[in-house]
Amino acid sequence: MKKRCLITREQLEPVLDALRETFDLTVGRDPLDEAAAAAALRDYDAIVPTLGDRFTAAAFEAAGEIRCGVLANVGVGYNHIDVEAARAHGVAVSNTPDVLTDATADIGLLLMLGAARRASEGERLVRAGEWKGFGPKTMLGTDVSGKVLGVAGFGRIGQAVARRGHLGFGMEVLYWNRSAKDPGFPARKVETLEELAARVDFLVVCLPGGKETVGVVGAGVFAAMKPESIFVNIARGEIVDEAALIEALESGAIAGAGLDVYAQEPFVPERLRACERCFLLPHLGSATVETRIAMGMVAVRNARAWADGKALPQAV
Ligand code: DGY
Repeated sequence: MKKRCLITREQLEPVLDALRETFDLTVGRDPLDEAAAAAALRDYDAIVPTLGDRFTAAAFEAAGEIRCGVLANVGVGYNHIDVEAARAHGVAVSNTPDVLTDATADIGLLLMLGAARRASEGERLVRAGEWKGFGPKTMLGTDVSGKVLGVAGFGRIGQAVARRGHLGFGMEVLYWNRSAKDPGFPARKVETLEELAARVDFLVVCLPGGKETVGVVGAGVFAAMKPESIFVNIARGEIVDEAALIEALESGAIAGAGLDVYAQEPFVPERLRACERCFLLPHLGSATVETRIAMGMVAVRNARAWADGKALPQAV
């Protein structure tokens, strides 16, 4: 008899088909709150969750008798899963690194360019039928090429953003990371996030989510940034003190921001939405057909490995 598997959200068909080969599959519709996560842990052998599901310590506690042996997450970030609690309850956890690096780094560059070149302001103007024609001083932005790029968090995605900035736009790269890295192109490590913030024209956050990084980018970081610099976040919203970011934007302490992630998605504070110089996207980092299939397939391989009693290829 096939093991019971819950994939918590609709994913693309090739992913569902592949899971059906191994599992008796149930496809969920909405993000699981703690109570639904607890029920799923009780009812299914394998779960394929994603961002927004709440596999918290409380969910593991509330589950009582846990049937589930694996949470094969679709996504590289797993801050919605309490990995320690999972481990304590004998539930293996895996993620999907590598396959979304390029897509996510591309969004980082899109946000840098969009914020620097005032893309959403310009688009709003055209769509509203309010564009009065070319003007030598109309909607002037700032160059990206040749500027200094600062990357906070120099893992796979951070390095991919830096590579694009350096090779594609001739940017000088500085980074802040626990350990020094050799990305294969010139990049200098700085010792503090504030130092990074003070020295760059574009500050891009690529840190991992989770308890350790909540609120790491606070008022001190924005105070250190140059008034003409641009802030970008493609990692997790909770890493940034959103109120401090709004203050920095409203007071002109920074010139603009490009954001793909928010502290309480899908809620985006009204004051942030009102900032003209913000280029805002709805968490699109990995949102391409190719990447979402690749992510799903990594999750399938992890779930299958567990079902076959093998080591998970991408255990966390
Ligand atoms: C991830 O993989 O962590 C993304 O943020 C969600 O696709």
